[in-house]
Amino acid sequence: MKLLHVVGARPNFPKLSPVHRAATALGLQQVVVHTGQHYDDAMSANFFRDLGIPAPDVNLEVGSGSHAVQTARIIERFEPVLIAQKPDWLVVYGDVNSTMATAIVAAKLGVRIAHVEAGLRSGDRTMPEEINRLVTDRLANLLLTPSTDASATLRAEGEPEEEIEFVGNVMIDTLFRSLPHAEATGYAARVGADGTHVAVTLHRPSNVDEPERLTAIVNALADIARSRPVIFPAHPRTQARIHSMGLDTGSIRMVDPIAYHEMLDLVRGAHVVITDSGGLQEETTALGVPCLTVRENTERPITIVEGTNQLMPDPTRLAAAVAATVRPTVRRSPEGWDGKAGERVAAALARRP
Ligand code: UD1
Repeated sequence: MKLLHVVGARPNFPKLSPVHRAATALGLQQVVVHTGQHYDDAMSANFFRDLGIPAPDVNLEVGSGSHAVQTARIIERFEPVLIAQKPDWLVVYGDVNSTMATAIVAAKLGVRIAHVEAGLRSGDRTMPEEINRLVTDRLANLLLTPSTDASATLRAEGEPEEEIEFVGNVMIDTLFRSLPHAEATGYAARVGADGTHVAVTLHRPSNVDEPERLTAIVNALADIARSRPVIFPAHPRTQARIHSMGLDTGSIRMVDPIAYHEMLDLVRGAHVVITDSGGLQEETTALGVPCLTVRENTERPITIVEGTNQLMPDPTRLAAAVAATVRPTVRRSPEGWDGKAGERVAAALARRP
């Protein structure tokens, strides 16, 4: 049995890693295709190295572009690869453009699609990821969900019961496995993170592409940085916006995007994480670290109901929220966030030759 995994952007890589390892253990044949959506070492190659993922067999090298251009390039370049490889399953991850584009190609060629992280919905179609989630789930033949609420969402949308399988959160497999390596980097101490620190990531168009909103967020972070270390590994698009607008970042320690283990070291000891990332909402819940999500909504409500996440749509409230936050004494973790989700994904595929 042959699996063809597609990854393209940073959040895909920690999801592929445990599935690839578990499928190898079951003796399944595997091919990895990287679309090249992310191409900087800091956004891609470093993750393959840290997570021990074998180098991609094929790289489509699509690079950046508008959503239409990037999606179209992936579709065009992926079709001959899929025809040549003839896998039993296309395995796609998360909600990035690479996920949706390759699912469309497979659906047209009659190749079965397994979607890892199916069933998440923000209900907000202005988010590019929401479109990617909806299209991918409609086309997928196997919907592998990270949480039971995601399975319920798919049922409510009319997906057949036999296509839905709750497997848990594969990214948390990677998190647990990586904690000792994260600690060994000593990164947090090197950048002056002292346990009172705030770790920040922001890259959503809704936060960084609107000058007024980005200004309000940066002002709030600069305010917080007056009383505690604020460490902000900034996505290339965020850096570009902040620099082109000439915003005053005060004592915020802005750094280039950092590798997976370094980030985990920074996050695990943080007082609070401020983010708009999907993955960090989950990782902070698994680590018991408070998270303030600078968004109106989340496709991961379980991190609020059963975790440490709190929506913070109004950036002017961030400083007060950071000051008021206390670390929870008891760590709760959603069902299936147990380090074994990759094994359940591989088993679900192996049962469907
Ligand atoms: C993409 C995903 C988003 C995910 C994020 C993680 C979609 C629709 N969005 O957003 O869901 O949370 O990845 O990072 O798929 N750039 C570089 N180097 C790179 C990659 C990008 O400099 O290696 C810059 C380019 O200027 C590019 C911009 O970042 O235009 C945006 O990249 P893109 O892949 O379009 O989207 P992300 O914002 O990274």
